[in-house]
Amino acid sequence: MTIHDIRQKYFDFMESKGHKIIPSSPLVLEGDATTLFTSSGMQPMMPYLLGQKHPLGTRLVDSQKCFRSQDIDEVGDNRHTTFFEMLGNWSLGDYFKKEQLGFFFAFLTDKKLGLGLDPHRLYVSVFAGGSGVEKDDDAVMIWKNLFAKVGIQAKEGQQIFPYPAKKNWWSRAGTPEQMPTGEPGGPDSEVFFDFGVERKLHENSQWKNEPCHINCDCGRYVEIGNNVFMQYVKQADGTLKELPQKNIDFGGGLTRLEAAMRNDPDMFNISSLAPVIKEVEKISAHSYSVEEHRPSMRVIADHLTAASFLIKDGVFPSNKGQGYVLRRLLRRAAIKLYFLTDNRDSIVMLPDIVRVITEFYDDLYFNPGDFPLIQNTITVEISRFSHSLDRGLKELQKNPQVDGKFAFDLYQNYGFPLEVTAEILSQMGKQVDIQQFQKEFEKHKELSRTASAGMFRGGLADHSDVVTAYHTATHLLHAALRQILGTHIQQKGSNITSERLRFDFSHPEKLSEVQIKVVQNLINQKISERLTVTKEELPKEKALTQGALAFFGQKYPDQVTVYTIGDRKNFFSKELCGGPHVESLAELAKINIVKQESLGAGTRRLYLQFV
Ligand code: ALA
Repeated sequence: MTIHDIRQKYFDFMESKGHKIIPSSPLVLEGDATTLFTSSGMQPMMPYLLGQKHPLGTRLVDSQKCFRSQDIDEVGDNRHTTFFEMLGNWSLGDYFKKEQLGFFFAFLTDKKLGLGLDPHRLYVSVFAGGSGVEKDDDAVMIWKNLFAKVGIQAKEGQQIFPYPAKKNWWSRAGTPEQMPTGEPGGPDSEVFFDFGVERKLHENSQWKNEPCHINCDCGRYVEIGNNVFMQYVKQADGTLKELPQKNIDFGGGLTRLEAAMRNDPDMFNISSLAPVIKEVEKISAHSYSVEEHRPSMRVIADHLTAASFLIKDGVFPSNKGQGYVLRRLLRRAAIKLYFLTDNRDSIVMLPDIVRVITEFYDDLYFNPGDFPLIQNTITVEISRFSHSLDRGLKELQKNPQVDGKFAFDLYQNYGFPLEVTAEILSQMGKQVDIQQFQKEFEKHKELSRTASAGMFRGGLADHSDVVTAYHTATHLLHAALRQILGTHIQQKGSNITSERLRFDFSHPEKLSEVQIKVVQNLINQKISERLTVTKEELPKEKALTQGALAFFGQKYPDQVTVYTIGDRKNFFSKELCGGPHVESLAELAKINIVKQESLGAGTRRLYLQFV
């Protein structure tokens, strides 16, 4: 069975349970500034999980393309990839735990309708309780019953393992404490497949002196599915409230399911990746059967796959945001191939690998015209990089002492992203103090604001550096407009991406060039004064009497969060807002107002960017 067969089998199974098939969303979501990439199936489903009606009803099924930049450093082992497809089925306030666990268990084990996996090799985890939510005893009971039906007397500590929120709670941001206000989440129950019985993966791993467990990193147990009981939404006061509807967010690793079917824990032997590895063998003239070459070959295969999908979805190599992640993937793949072959010329063959990728997914995710586009994009990026690779490598070899400053120079002069420098150094067997590097980078504001520092960790929280900075800029712009143009100005809306802030406000006429300059200068003046930003919890009435701005028509709780920029009494800006914000304007770069538009009816729009 290939992943295409498994995807189809899952769709058929779920359709028989009343689900409607929906197509995958792109890897970069339009209008979602909270994350750089689609990294889970639920992201495009957010509005529906929060209560909006889906036109196809309350039972949906899909296979969502996902990219997890936070896993980039883990690629190289038997099971991590940055790109993967996540099978998903969704109950939007329809069925809940019992049905869901039953569906997935049947899909895994049923010989006719499902995959026919041996239930003796399945293990599950459940939420152990915490953050005001009780242990998930329901899930324990349901699992016991399901296992009993196939003759297994499952017990806690044998097949069923409770874990705290760090492992068994799902939201885009992580644990309940990490969730921002308005974020949905809930306890989850993961299912693991045991690869290790015959293969003794654990005994051969670096963890051999520690006891193995289902969440162990040795690779013996691989998570193949996650059932999220999405039932809560985070409140401004830090508590969790029940969502108006209880949802199921199920995510299954398509490639991992094929690996389980093949009884082979190496994800790079499956139908989608094996042909890519074959190409890597060809261009590197190395065999994948040689253990020491495997990690590099896996990185190349994964990164080229991810790059192909990203380019298809509109990402191009650049120094910012998504483009920087793509650039890093391609440069990292190039460096792996360079060290594998000891030959710089080999890296120009990297783009050729793409053909097998687009062919494998032909008709489903790629069209015939996509191959040349992707191949060209990679060719341009790689040839650009290959020029500086030699010179950069020479510099690195010349300097036994590689400190943060030097790493930064390499970035500026040769386009070596910090992580790529670290990569090369580790290939050369040198130690890298990433933290020291990062400190140096952070000194260079512009960079720390782009992708070099936090963004690669990916996910919601990590993207927050840029987004947080723009949030604070929103307050600055609002205050500056009111100060310069008058207090009739009210914010009508805003939208933030990693590239810019868009701000709508009431004002009867077009701003003159001079007015824009004055507003811009005032904001930059405040930024250069490095004003502090303070956060307070206050009774709503008190906040309003202090002059804090609130949105007309918005309902606020009695106790509100207020952000003040500048002196608490003699402030520049004070607004009711959930945050988050920077702690000091010293964290911001200077801004430019780059564009103005009219939205008609006395509403204007400005675009603001960090320089
Ligand atoms: N949203 C869940 C996950 O990504 C299913 O693991």
